[in-house]
Amino acid sequence: MRWKYAGRMKRETRKKVWKVRDKRGNIGFFKYPYKRTKKSRKHRQMIVNEYLANSLAKSLGFPVANFKPAMVSGPDRRKVRGYISRRVNAKEVITWERAKKEVKYCPEWFVNDIKRLAQVIVFDAWILNKDRTSVNLVLYRDSTKEKYNWYLIDHGSALLGSPTNSPFARVKGFKHPQLKKSMRIPTGMKKVVLSNRSAVDEMVNRIQGLPESEITRAIDTVPKQLALTKRKKEFLRRLLQYRQKCIDLIMLDILDQIKQNKPGLL
Ligand SMILES: Nc1ncnc2c1ncn2[C@@H]1O[C@H](COP(=O)(O)OP(=O)(O)O)[C@@H](O)[C@H]1O
Ligand SMILES: [Mg+2]
Repeated sequence: MRWKYAGRMKRETRKKVWKVRDKRGNIGFFKYPYKRTKKSRKHRQMIVNEYLANSLAKSLGFPVANFKPAMVSGPDRRKVRGYISRRVNAKEVITWERAKKEVKYCPEWFVNDIKRLAQVIVFDAWILNKDRTSVNLVLYRDSTKEKYNWYLIDHGSALLGSPTNSPFARVKGFKHPQLKKSMRIPTGMKKVVLSNRSAVDEMVNRIQGLPESEITRAIDTVPKQLALTKRKKEFLRRLLQYRQKCIDLIMLDILDQIKQNKPGLL
């Protein structure tokens, strides 16, 4: 088998996540052993969120981790089925949280593609991702002389929400329990967002210009084995279209909040 258990993640995650490795030394982060329990069915919902968010992020031009189904040989050598978020191969790969202070205070000096980074908040607002914490943004580079590149990970609690905050069962229309929740953003990101307003507006336009067929296509990239029901597909399509239409107003609100040093509300 290609992937093997290489340790448990303790920090930076609230769930069971294994670090895994293959023969070539590639590293991945493995989620959600597949068992036929109620809890795992709910976990499947988070994998749906990951797939759909990844797919939408790609259509908007954001770099995201490669996320795929995989079999892993577990700590007891038994085979386990789940999903791997692949780590890029670079000399230094860290979460934003572990970056040095100067990187967080002056990202434009240390990080590539700052305009796109400023646009992430619009994407997160669209897909109801309140969890863009400092550990859900990854930086990487091959030498300390280079600026960092970055990519997004962990969209498990966006869209349909997480098992502990499962909106779908409770929603009627578009009253979504994730709504009015405050967004967490990485340290230093407020400045990046506020000093790149035109990039932020550009992403608002880009999301609003995304054709309906692109949303449907993204929903269809969710693997069949995740058993996403027709009802949930329809819910996701309507949720995304509804927020797409008013993302300009949503962003005005969020920008206003963060200017006042308050967390933006979804
Ligand atoms: N593709 C990746 N590249 C680098 N680190 C990753 C990657 N995927 C996960 N991780 C690490 O594993 C941690 C937990 O993964 P994450 O997808 O955020 O799971 P959770 O839903 O438990 O927060 C992350 O905070 C990060 O440290
Ligand atoms: Mg996380």
